[in-house]
Amino acid sequence: STAYSDAFVFLGATGDLAYKQIFPALRGLIRDEGFNLPIIGVAKAGWNLDQFKARAKDSLSHHGCPDDESCAKLIDLLHYVDGDYNDPSTFEQLKKELGDAQRPLHYLAIPPSLFGVVAEHLAQASCANNARVVVEKPFGRDVESSHQLGMTLQKYFPEGNIFRIDHYLGKEPVQNILYTRFANPMFEPIWNREHVRSIQITMAENFGVQDRGKFYDEVGALLDVVQNHMLQVVANLTIDPPTGEDHDSVRNRRSELMRAIRPLTAENIVRGQYEGYRSVPGVRPGSPVETFVAVRFEIDSWRWAGVPIYVRAGKMMPVTCTEAVIEFKRPPRETFGELVPNTSAHMRIRLGPDMQIAMGVRVKTPGERMVGRDVELELHREAVRDMPPYERLLGDASRGNNELFSRQDLVEAQWRVVEPVLGFVTPYYSYAPGSWGPEEANQLIGNDGPWLDPEV
Ligand code: BG6
Repeated sequence: STAYSDAFVFLGATGDLAYKQIFPALRGLIRDEGFNLPIIGVAKAGWNLDQFKARAKDSLSHHGCPDDESCAKLIDLLHYVDGDYNDPSTFEQLKKELGDAQRPLHYLAIPPSLFGVVAEHLAQASCANNARVVVEKPFGRDVESSHQLGMTLQKYFPEGNIFRIDHYLGKEPVQNILYTRFANPMFEPIWNREHVRSIQITMAENFGVQDRGKFYDEVGALLDVVQNHMLQVVANLTIDPPTGEDHDSVRNRRSELMRAIRPLTAENIVRGQYEGYRSVPGVRPGSPVETFVAVRFEIDSWRWAGVPIYVRAGKMMPVTCTEAVIEFKRPPRETFGELVPNTSAHMRIRLGPDMQIAMGVRVKTPGERMVGRDVELELHREAVRDMPPYERLLGDASRGNNELFSRQDLVEAQWRVVEPVLGFVTPYYSYAPGSWGPEEANQLIGNDGPWLDPEV
């Protein structure tokens, strides 16, 4: 159903995610979309409603929201329930706060280990009927555990009412990949193994793991951003055109594509760790966790067979930038006796910090000789002034639109891709902060290289 939710419940309301993302997103929805639902925070912090409101105000001012009507409205909509997630009375209290709401949305900003017990208590307290539930990564730790987690949620909520957030899907430039591909039909005939030589994606961040040492040391770069965000970007770059218009038409294409990606093997991954990572608070001494990863994916489909897809993602890189480059094939022979570089003909799509689309081509250098140079035509450049991903995603979830959320089969397919290289089965190499990662990443890309370092 697409009826608007009539209450917004968020569990884990005193936590980090609430402070950083949820309060500002809700305020944006109030200002831009007339969002007007009771907002009920649930947490075990020993707080009262006033303390909760103070936290919300603090979050808003920290994020530069002017003290305007929408902020006042948000504070006004807040309710708060303090209690333990293992205690049924917490949920009886929640039921009271819900009043006559018929279609609440429950946002579980809590560790996945609590999903089972929370879902069960929500159901027992009659808070789960017609309800939607929004959950955050990680969705499991491998295929089997993500399957179990899915079954746990599906016991209480139908799949269509489960909204799994991958905030990359809510990003304007990530959506623009699909838009540009399918709004300009001239790209489709060259978007395949006949014309594309390779695809590479770089997600570089020029900062370390900051205050997230404990969290990060349990995941590492592969699971933090590649298994989820980067695979979504790969999918948007490579899926077949969707048919139909329902929310599942794009998700079906994504699912087909994800299932066609060959599971990674040790030869197709290089892991790196920046020098100094192990002295970050929360990181284990001697930790083998990677802060940089480079992988080679292959897609087993008629369209993409034999086209390598390279992805690298790292912390403490020289710049912060995410960029995809589609490299087109070189000429089949050197007509002018001049070696045309691998990278001459390409399409470059920057996803952040700003949005760019550029085409690289080779043109003749004026003069007597038939020699050329590479130029890049910038088709489009725009600041990302869009709706912040959380605002878009929470708005969509409240309306029951799940197109930009992951589906159980997709999540399992994503785990299938990385499962063979889980458990740090490959070595890691250290790299200097501010570099482009270990030298071994260059060996991985080999003759398909070089890696194209984004220029910011
Ligand atoms: C998060 C990761 O999911 O995505 C972070 O946990 C990463 O480590 C972040 O920094 C990147 O998101 P964005 O939107 O800043 O590109």
